[in-house]
Amino acid sequence: MEKFLVTFLPDNLSVSVAKDTTILAAAISAQIYINSACGGDGICGKCKVIVRGQVTSSQPNGSLTSEERKNNIYLSCFTTVQGNLEVQIPDSSRLNFDKLTPEELDERLSGLLVEPADTTGNNFGFCFDIGTTTISGQLVNLGSKNILGTRATYNQQAAFGSDVITRIIYAAKPGGLQQLHNCVCGTINQIIEELISVHKVELNNVNSIVCAGNTTMIHLLLNMDPAHIRRLPYVPKTSIPLVLPATKADINISTAGILRCVPGVSSYVGGDTTAGILSSGLYQKEKTCILIDIGTNGEIVLGNRDFLIACAASAGPAFEGSGLTCGMRASGGAIQKIQINKDDFNIEYSVIQGKKPHGICGSGYIDLLCEMLDAGIIDKNGRIKAENRRIRKTDTAKEFVVCFKEETDGVNDIVITEADIENLKRSKGAIYAATSILVKHLGLDFSGIEKFYIAGGFGTYLNIEKAIRIGLLPDLERNKFVFIGNSSLAGARQILLSSQEMDMADSLAAKITYFELSVEPGYMEEYSQALFFPHTDLTKFPTVKF
Ligand code: FES
Repeated sequence: MEKFLVTFLPDNLSVSVAKDTTILAAAISAQIYINSACGGDGICGKCKVIVRGQVTSSQPNGSLTSEERKNNIYLSCFTTVQGNLEVQIPDSSRLNFDKLTPEELDERLSGLLVEPADTTGNNFGFCFDIGTTTISGQLVNLGSKNILGTRATYNQQAAFGSDVITRIIYAAKPGGLQQLHNCVCGTINQIIEELISVHKVELNNVNSIVCAGNTTMIHLLLNMDPAHIRRLPYVPKTSIPLVLPATKADINISTAGILRCVPGVSSYVGGDTTAGILSSGLYQKEKTCILIDIGTNGEIVLGNRDFLIACAASAGPAFEGSGLTCGMRASGGAIQKIQINKDDFNIEYSVIQGKKPHGICGSGYIDLLCEMLDAGIIDKNGRIKAENRRIRKTDTAKEFVVCFKEETDGVNDIVITEADIENLKRSKGAIYAATSILVKHLGLDFSGIEKFYIAGGFGTYLNIEKAIRIGLLPDLERNKFVFIGNSSLAGARQILLSSQEMDMADSLAAKITYFELSVEPGYMEEYSQALFFPHTDLTKFPTVKF
C-alpha cells in the first residue's frame, strides 16, 4: 500500500498514512484534534486547514469561498492525501483539550465541597460525570469520605462530532466504535493518573469507580454498539452491565477494582439524569419541582416524592457554543456577558479569564439575544432589521458584528449571523416547549412549580432574567430558580460513598416514567409557538416587556 508523510504545523508532528486517507483521519492518528462538529460530513465547515502538497478533494460546493480556495484552504474531512503534505492547522480549526481552569471548574462544579487532602486509610474511589462535551472526575477517600481532588477536561470524542448522534454514526464506521471507546477511556485514565499522582495515592488502593453519563456515552465507555439508540423504537441495549470489573472497560484502577454505571431510563434519559435526581433531592420533595440540565442534550424531570417523569429535548449543542459561527465552550477567551448601547449599538462585554475575545459561549449568546431584542436590532422572529455599521449583509443573510477583529485574539470579526440566531431560537424553543408540555401533560401549570433546579455547565454565568426574556426559561418568580452545578457528578459521588444511595439510584431509574415528546399531540404546536422571542403567547411571559 502506497504511503505518504503528512506533517502538521505548527506542531511539527509527522505521521505516515496510506494514500487516500483523509487529512482529518491523518490528524487523529497523529493525536492532533481538529474541530469536526458534524463528524466529517462536510456540513459544519469547522475543519479547515491550509495544505501544501498533492491532495484530492470532494468538498461540497459552497463550503469554501473562492478566496479560501485560492489560499489552499481545504475541508480536512473531504480532502485525501495523494503525496507528502504539509498541513497548517489554524487556531480556529483546532480542538483545545486543555484542562479546565480552576475558575471554570468552580463554575461547573459549584455546590461541591472539596476538602483538604486526606490520604489516611487505603481505600479510594473515583466518581465521574461522562458528558458529551466534558468529562469530570473526583478522587474520594472512601474511609473519610473526603473529596481529595477534582479534574475536568474536554471529552476527546469531540474530534468525531459534537453531539451524540454524530458519535453514533461515527461508531458505525470501520474501527469507529473502538476509537470512540479509546477516547473516553483515555480521558478517564488521564484524570485518574493526574489525581492519584498529585495526591500520592497508590493505584492499587483505588478499588471503585462510579460513572454517570448519557446512554450513548455509557455504551461507548463499555465498547458497546450504540446504533439502536437512534433507530426506531429507540431502545438501548438491555444488556448493559451496571457492575463489572473496571479492567473490562479498560479503566486503570486496582486490578480487582469495580466499575459501576449509574442506571439510566431510556435512550435519551441516561444515568446522568438519575444521578441528578438523586443529588438534587427532587425525589424527596413534597411539592412538585423541575430539574433541567442544559448540556449537549436538554433533559427535563418533573416530579416530587410521589412521582417522577422525564423527557429529553432535542435542543442540540447550541448553548454549548457548538454549530454557531463564532461559538465556543465556556472557557478562557469566551465572551460570557454582553451589554449593547441602544443608541449607537456599541458593546460592552466581559470575557472569561479577562483574555482577548476568541468567541461567544452559551451564556454570552443568551445575553446577546436579549440585548439585541432590547436594542431593536432583531425582531421577535430573530430577523436583523436595524441599520448600523455593525450590521452587514452577506451572500445569504445578515450578520451583526459583536467584536471587530482588532479587538479579538484572531484574524476574523466575531459575529452572530441570522442562521446562528435561528439555531439558538430552535434550541431555546425545544427546551421551553419540552418543559411546558411535560407540565401540561400532568394537568399542571408553571405556577404550581415549587422550585426550578438548573444543572449543567452554565453555572452562575447564566443570567436568569435574560434567559426568561428570550423565552428559554418560564416566567416564574426569580427566587424559584436554583443553580445546582454538576448534579450528575454529585450523584455519582453519593453512589460511590453509600450502598443505600446505590440502591436508591436503581429504584429511581425503575420509578422514572419516560415521556416521549415526539409522539405527544400538541408538542409541535407548542414548539412552533416557542420559536419567537420570547413566545407567540405573551400572556405566558407577563413580566417580559420590550
Ligand atoms: S465540515 Fe469537516 S468536519 Fe464538519
